[in-house]
Amino acid sequence: MFVSQLETPALIVDLDVLERNQTRAMDLLRPLGVALRPHYKSHKCTAIAHMQLTGGAKGITCAKLSEAEDLIQSGVEDVLIANQVVEPAKLMRLGYLAGCCRLSVCVDTLENIRALESAAATFGTTIHCLVEYEVGMRRCGVATPQEALALAEAILAAPHLSFLGIQAYAGQLSHAEDFARRSREAARIEGRLRELLTFLHENGVDVPEVSGASTGTVELRGADTVYTEVQAGTYLFMDAAYDRVGVGFEHSLFLLSTVVSADAEHVVCDAGLKTLGVDQGNPVFADFPAASVNMSEEHCVAYCANRCAAGDKLRLIPGHCCTTVNLFDAIYFVRDDRVVDRVPVTSRGKSR
Ligand SMILES: Cc1ncc(COP(=O)(O)O)c(C=O)c1O
Repeated sequence: MFVSQLETPALIVDLDVLERNQTRAMDLLRPLGVALRPHYKSHKCTAIAHMQLTGGAKGITCAKLSEAEDLIQSGVEDVLIANQVVEPAKLMRLGYLAGCCRLSVCVDTLENIRALESAAATFGTTIHCLVEYEVGMRRCGVATPQEALALAEAILAAPHLSFLGIQAYAGQLSHAEDFARRSREAARIEGRLRELLTFLHENGVDVPEVSGASTGTVELRGADTVYTEVQAGTYLFMDAAYDRVGVGFEHSLFLLSTVVSADAEHVVCDAGLKTLGVDQGNPVFADFPAASVNMSEEHCVAYCANRCAAGDKLRLIPGHCCTTVNLFDAIYFVRDDRVVDRVPVTSRGKSR
């Protein structure tokens, strides 16, 4: 089947480009001895997670317990939930799942550590824990070395928990467009983490892993980085928001849409807010990157000089790949102009 024969709107992934992005991420990190633990949120497809593992990733990061369940069921053996799990019913599921793979989770309170220990003890399993350290995003995590030490010691004292290290995700830097500011801030955070590791070491706690970072900061890691693994997600697909940052990965994900109406100055496509995540900005038409774009529920309009006619197929670069993928049941894999596979978005809507 040719790409032009797909009914639209359809999400397509150029496999040649996807493979190049995976290779580039590995080429950036491998010489530094830093592992790639890609974030599942960007594609939510277990098939793609396995491609990343085959391509050198150490394990998979996800945000939700239900995503972890899908990954484990598909055979992924090393899963990090880069979040706090606090609801009693979820803690029980987590305790059970920890017997099915090497499962890690983030913590930032003593109460949660006690609850995790109790859940793991119920099933006789071990849950691996990263103490989340607040590095400027003001989301989760403790802000002082003393608090991190108290949590690490509590984990080390819990018979069914294992202290894996530190989670340090500086999401505020990911889309900082000023490269100098992004690198300066990333270096400052590395400095804070180095101080934390020294403090923990002086108090008898060694830290095997420091996990975090994103597509926007993967290139900023130097030979002296304290990070042992990087959780980048968007690097594989890219999107218009990361284009503005200039991170050197290529677009592999496109929304294929059909022109439903056009004149010499504007084009209307059949893809709107129900098929494109716009939380980080509007999509960009691959053929008219400079066109201003207007979105409504089922339409996307590009204002530009063009020769399009109804029925033409156009590629749009989503504003944000992660929220776009979550709107689709499946992604088509393409090479050149051929459709070569269709993979389900396994964890679409898995937000629990
Ligand atoms: C915990 C965590 N790690 C890593 C990432 C990096 O993702 P990306 O590379 O898509 O910016 C995110 C993004 O939301 C995240 O929440």
